[in-house]
Amino acid sequence: MASDTNEEIELGFAGLRIGRPPLSEEDATLRTFLRQNSREFETVHELREQGWNNPKGDEHYERKHKIADRHIRDADQEKVYYQMYLVIARELQEATAVFTVNGSTPGKLRGFNLCMAPGGYTRVLLDHNPQMTISGITLPEAQTGHPVVTEVAADPRVGVEYLDINLLATSMGVPASDIPADHPDAEKFLTHVPFADLEFDVVIADGAVLRTHDRGEHRLDKEREALRLRLSQLILGFGRIKDGGTFMVLLHRIDSWENFVLLRKLEQFSEVKVHKPTVKHAESSSFYIVAKNVDRDRLTATAVLDEWKAYWRQVTFGGEEGKGELPQGPGNDVVEKAFQEYGARYMELGRPVWETQARALEKAPYMKLPDARTSNARQTSSNKTATSSNKMGTVREKTPENPKLASILKASSWRTVSSPSIERAGDDADQTSQADSGSSKRETSAKPTRPPAASLPSWR
Ligand SMILES: C[S@@+](CC[C@H](N)C(=O)[O-])C[C@H]1O[C@@H](n2cnc3c(N)ncnc32)[C@H](O)[C@@H]1O
Repeated sequence: MASDTNEEIELGFAGLRIGRPPLSEEDATLRTFLRQNSREFETVHELREQGWNNPKGDEHYERKHKIADRHIRDADQEKVYYQMYLVIARELQEATAVFTVNGSTPGKLRGFNLCMAPGGYTRVLLDHNPQMTISGITLPEAQTGHPVVTEVAADPRVGVEYLDINLLATSMGVPASDIPADHPDAEKFLTHVPFADLEFDVVIADGAVLRTHDRGEHRLDKEREALRLRLSQLILGFGRIKDGGTFMVLLHRIDSWENFVLLRKLEQFSEVKVHKPTVKHAESSSFYIVAKNVDRDRLTATAVLDEWKAYWRQVTFGGEEGKGELPQGPGNDVVEKAFQEYGARYMELGRPVWETQARALEKAPYMKLPDARTSNARQTSSNKTATSSNKMGTVREKTPENPKLASILKASSWRTVSSPSIERAGDDADQTSQADSGSSKRETSAKPTRPPAASLPSWR
């Protein structure tokens, strides 16, 4: 496979971001706290700044977008996408045992794969649980969705419904009678409830808004569409999960206020693990949350499903024109208080994600600082030797070349999975979806001075 083709494959769902992502006021405040309190985050932040300030970064991703869009729905490439998800799934299994179902949940073993195509996670889930049946939902090919590979689609244990998950109004708590007649999608919203009456042991939710999805002008706001997709998956998945079940979701930017709140909420009713795969997309902001052993009673007590449904209504029907708006954040006082209460645990969850991303960003081909450039050259040549003798999944220690990163990692255990495919260090510098960046509030690049220990929040 030509290297361009491989690049496209890696890109397809990666959500490549061109330019600096927009930040809410709450995101900016949270980042300030993180920069003051987490050396790992501060390192990622500085590396991202270098990338965003370097026009070569944008050029790099623009070029990748073009390749990805040119090769869309090429059969060979779909196979490579599939292989890529197999590889990611296996690393996720090794790190979090997400596909190991303990069988203690009642009834027949069932999996739910939201945004299923091409089907890599379904394949690995079945490999680990041969008696399981899997229900999948994925965007129809006619709407530029990706196909489910034949070996998954034709498996008798797998059933797929091809639909746009963001149109499932009834499942999102909006009855047909509440859909405004003048909404541009009034005729398209779905009252059908997919796989009604089924509950699931494992839910996999790794949808990514596709740049190529022809969805109408009113759905082009990238931040809003991506939030709607996240909410659709959370509502569908947590609405149907069995007591004791597992939920895995792909997200971006663990350093966002939304993800801070989500992690805190999930920890109220499940055992949370966070993992950022090292084999693919390591330089992007993507990461996975695995919520195991979900306690349904506690989930219900938090009323989080109602909260998500209210947000879904707002991003779909809110705003002056009734075509959706982003919810307002709660303000900085709330962020500060929450950080004092949950910041320590949150940074513990985020640390490995930032370490993995920093390591990959340091090697990104467009990083321009002299030390990064030297480091790239050295890393590339040493990886060439190493990867030829390393199989996927082989774990070996590496010493990062960036002195700051090296000193941080000296104190923590720095390990990575080597594979030929990670040499190019993936794709985006930051993202919320496969669409490129929008523009609202911009992050300030001013470096915060680290406050003296006495002024740190009380949990330190
Ligand atoms: C990251 S891939 C999923 C990989 C897949 N879970 C696997 O295991 O191979 C993202 C998928 O989300 C799908 N998708 C994007 N928007 C969607 C929507 N609105 N409704 C349903 N599926 C959607 C895409 O077609 C794509 O197949």
